[in-house]
This record gives sequence, C-alpha cells and structure tokens, in this order.
Amino acid sequence: MSNLSSMLQSLASKNPAKAAACDAVAALAAAAASIAAVIRQPDADAALGAIRGSANADGDDQKALDVLADEMIERALAVVPAVAAYLSEEQDAAVPLHDDGQVIVASDPLDGSSNIDTNVSVGTIFSILPASGGILQPGRNQLAAGFFVYGPQTTLLVSFGGPVMAFQLGDDGHFHDMGWSVSITTDTREFSINASNMRHWRPDVAAYIADCLAGETGPRKMNFNMRWVGSLVADGWRIFRRGGIFLYPADARRGYEAGRLRLVYEANPVAFLVEAAGGKAINGDVPILDVVPETLHARVPLVFGSANEVDEFARYRP
Ligand code: F6P
Repeated sequence: MSNLSSMLQSLASKNPAKAAACDAVAALAAAAASIAAVIRQPDADAALGAIRGSANADGDDQKALDVLADEMIERALAVVPAVAAYLSEEQDAAVPLHDDGQVIVASDPLDGSSNIDTNVSVGTIFSILPASGGILQPGRNQLAAGFFVYGPQTTLLVSFGGPVMAFQLGDDGHFHDMGWSVSITTDTREFSINASNMRHWRPDVAAYIADCLAGETGPRKMNFNMRWVGSLVADGWRIFRRGGIFLYPADARRGYEAGRLRLVYEANPVAFLVEAAGGKAINGDVPILDVVPETLHARVPLVFGSANEVDEFARYRP
C-alpha cells in the first residue's frame, strides 16, 4: 500500500506545475496528524470543546480546538516557501506568508466544531488556489482540494484535479492509500438536510423534501432514508462512500439568506472533490465552482452529491 508522501513526491516530479500544491498538501497532512493526536487526548472533550467567549469572522462561537487547529495549520504552512497566503475561516483577513509563493491555501481548520465535545467526527477542509489569481477566485481555479476527517479513523480525501484519492492515517504517523476508487454513485435514495429548519425553507426545497418523504406511494415512487450528522466532513465522507444528496439551502432565517456554509472554505473544496468523483455540486442554480466569491467569508447555498439526484432537486427550482 503506497502512502501520501510517496504519491506527492511522484506527482510533483512528473508534473512540476503541481509541486507547490503538493508541498502545501504535505504540510496540511502533517498538521492534520497533529490535530488528530490532540483530539485523541483523554481530556480533549472538556478542554477542546470549551467556548472561548469569542466569535469568528462569521459570527460562530469559537471553541478552543477551532483556534488551536487554526494556529497549527498556519504554523505548518508558514514554513512552506510555496505558500503565498493563508485564508482561514477563523481569521478576518488573509495571512500573507511568502512573497514568492505560488499558491494560496484556504481552510476551515476545524469543521463541525459544534460536535467536538460529543465525540462525533469533525475535520479540516482545504482548498489550494494559484497565487496569481488573488484571494477571490472561483473554485474552478483550484489546483487541489480535500478534507481530513477526525473520526473513528483519521482519513483524507484529496484531488489534484484528477481522481479523488482516499488515505487513512496509520499508527506510523503516515497517511496510507485506502485502495478505494472514489466515485459518487449516480443515483441515491438517501438525503441529508437539517429538517428542524423546515418551516423556514423556500417552497422548492420544501416540495423536494416532501416528495422524498412521501416514499414509494408518492411522486418519486421510492422510499428515502435520511442522515444528518451536522458535520459537513462526515456527511460528505458518507456521500463519497455510498452516494446521497446533501442540502444546506438558503432559508428565511435572518443571516441564512445564502445558507450557512462558506464558499471559499467549505463549498468550493467539497465541490471540487464532488465533481472529480462524478457527482454534482450546485448553489441551487449554477455549479458551485462557477460562483465568484464577493468576499472571503461569503456564504453560499450548497446542494451536492449523486448527479441524478442533484439534477432532480434542480427541477423543483422556480
Ligand atoms: O459549517 C459548520 C457546520 O458545522 C457544518 O459542518 C455542518 O454541515 C453545518 O454547520 C451544520 O449546521 P446546523 O447546525 O445548522 O445543522
């Protein structure tokens, strides 16, 4: 079984244009292995789930682990000459690193942090962009993207534009190829949405979910299952594994006019992986990867997963 380091070395030597992105992924993997070790500490629940009394740029409560993971990732990237700047969901502005760097790394250092103290999977999401494009680029420009999941296994899904590769952290501290050909099934009977927001949904979202819930006697003529972990990385991993559709739509709550998830730190990297695995990712109307961020912390409605089901959802749009 090959490991991540040897894959990165071989990719960088065959394709020098990807060398800078490979260096960044190597640094992120080292940081992720350290974050996983911190989460495994016996007292991690209490200490790392504690609210810091601060909010991040998006107004979310910051947990101690949010801040720690952000610091660990920034430190890891700061020693990589190829990285020009670090964009973090936890920081208001871009962090300049190396004037001559070729890539920008955007990251949600600790996704799903409301789950930290419940022993549910959390993760680190990252997006690697060419430095020449500046900090507000469409996701289509990404050179590589991926996410780590800190769950029963510490895992990584990553793509450099080609196939999506899956790795698992071993006891030796290295990420090993899981030997799994990552592709999202075209069809599904499983949806993922926070149904507690139903009363705030737009009519098209409500109609789509109502038809899924109607089961085999309804218009969809089949029964659906529902799953909602509440950690994008965990819900995402499941969809890469067995298909599904994930929805975090815009809704009528104040502050949710564009959904909840961030375009630069969450939706773009997930959409990059989803398309590379044969799935689809849209904001309701257009592919996520074609949306140009207006601000670093812009939110976007996100619907992704099995291609035919995302198309089916899009048919409900007015
Ligand atoms: O962005 C943070 C996040 O925790 C995602 O990982 C997850 O998909 C979503 O928010 C959950 O939101 P809610 O608590 O509204 O269901």
